[in-house]
This record gives sequence, C-alpha cells and structure tokens, in this order.
Amino acid sequence: MATVEWDEAAGGVRLIDQTRLPAEERYVLCRTAEEVARAIRDMVVRGAPAIGAAAAYGVALAARAGRLAEGAAAIRASRPTARDLFWAVERVERAPDPLAEAHRVARENVEACRSIGRHGAALLPAGARVVTICNTGALATVDYGTALGVIRAAHETGKAPFVYVMETRPRAQGARLTTWELRRLGIPHRLIVDSAVGLLLQRGMVDVAVSGADRVCANGDVVNKVGTYPLAVLCREHGVPFYVAAPESTFDRRTPDGAGVTIEERAPEEVTGFAPPGTPAWNPAFDVTPAALVRALITEHGVVEGRPI
Ligand code: MRU
Repeated sequence: MATVEWDEAAGGVRLIDQTRLPAEERYVLCRTAEEVARAIRDMVVRGAPAIGAAAAYGVALAARAGRLAEGAAAIRASRPTARDLFWAVERVERAPDPLAEAHRVARENVEACRSIGRHGAALLPAGARVVTICNTGALATVDYGTALGVIRAAHETGKAPFVYVMETRPRAQGARLTTWELRRLGIPHRLIVDSAVGLLLQRGMVDVAVSGADRVCANGDVVNKVGTYPLAVLCREHGVPFYVAAPESTFDRRTPDGAGVTIEERAPEEVTGFAPPGTPAWNPAFDVTPAALVRALITEHGVVEGRPI
C-alpha cells in the first residue's frame, strides 16, 4: 500500500482513497494541482505529512503545466490547518526542479517517521497500554507514521504494546483507518468511543498517550484532531504521560502560539447524521493542546521535553 506515490507513466500522483477505507482499497490518480487540491479538501488524502507530500506533487504538476502560481494557490486554499501543506508548497515552488523536490519531500518524510518511531519507542515501557487519537500511521504520512510509527516501532522491537483506539468523531479516522492499519500490522488493539476515554484513564487502563500533530507552534502548543485537548487534560488529571510525535515539517516557528492558528471548520453534515433535519452544528476539525500538557515532543531529531523551540 502506498499512500502518496508519483506515477511518471500516468503523469500524476496516485493516492489511496482514504474515504473508501476500510471497505475498499481504491486509488485515485491526480494529474493537475486542482485535482490534488480537491483530493486534500475531500480527505481522499489526509494526515499532515501525507497532505504535505500530495501538495508537493500538486505544485510539481502545476509547474510542469506552466501554471505554478495558480496551482500553488489552489493547493494552499484546500485545507488551512496542517503546517506540512504550506511548508511543502513553499519548498517546491522555490525549487529549480519542482518534481525532484517533491520526491525529496516524500522520501524525507519516510526517513523522518522511521526516526520518530525509534526515538518514541524508547519511551514506551514493555507491554505499554497506549491510547491514541485519529490516524497517524502510514496512511497519514508517506509511510510508517508518526504516533502510530512510535507504536509500530515498539511492536517491532518486541515491546508488545496494546493500543486503545479513539474512534475520532466525526470522520472516524480512528475507527476506520487506525484499526485497519493495526490489524494489518498484527498489533493488538481495542476501539473505544471518544467519550469513553475518561473512564479508560480513570480505571488505570492506560500507561501512555501518543498523538500526532497538524501544527506545533513556536511555544510548543499542539494543534491536532479535535478531541486531542480533552485527552491531554484527562492525561494530566490521571498522571498519564501525553506525548506528541511530529516531524520537523509540522513545526511552525512563525506562529507564536495556538491562538494564531486557523482551525478548519468542516460541513455541519459531518456531525448531524443522528440529529433532526436542519439541526445547526459547529464542526471544528482540530483543537489546541497547550504546551504545558505535553510531556514531550518526539521528532526525527530526538525527544524534546517541555518547551521545544
Ligand atoms: O483531518 P485529518 O484526518 O487530516 O487530521 C489528521 C490528524 O489530526 C493527525 O493526527 C495529524 O495530521 C498527524 S498525522 C501523522
């Protein structure tokens, strides 16, 4: 399975369609920056580093078509929160060979994730019971994963982690995608509804929490999937370490703290499935976890405790 893969013969970037998983393993080919932008907006590809790699190839496609500025603008307008998207667009639009740069963005992410996995696995005790939110595995990156990469590396080094997977309303990335990945990897796990996490921690059923990030601000505030902040607050209440795993491409040194980050608001229809027709809804896709709640950041360069930058 390749999350984001360049296909030279087909003249585009191939994405696994994450809206169809786990029911179907289907791939989508994007031949223009606008098609890539649509795939990002519709969450065919999602997860900050995967969005970054897709964006990189989107800009390369635009450059090839002689429409660099329009293509880059379309990609920038696709989703607002993940730092990786803007980081990748900036890198590729400035590069003398945009496609070669997009390949570097993709390749570097795989290396970064493997390194995050190694550093993070060292923090997990043997037999750790881990809770995680959203999907941060191979599907959310180019390969291997960030928070899920930490769990995967722990599994590969014989530490036998057990994973509690938060379903992650409303798009169910945990229920649909993380369980799918964990099953393929042979890592034991159990699914919970998001609101069960309080009881899970209160009953002492978890040793450690690990999440990914869509953006880490200069002061260490972490913007990630909505529900991450309450998870981090619960971790503090119950003395459970809350770790965040993210590559350099997710760090935003220009934004001082989480208050300055645009939080994507998605369609109310994503949450009104059980409600009477016409019920108004507020559907923010991310939230802000203050730096003080994060025990440490796990990056490809190592583990950074406390305030990172
Ligand atoms: O809305 P999504 O599915 O793109 O949100 C993804 C997350 O919140 C992930 O935790 C984050 O991107 C890190 S992925 C390695």
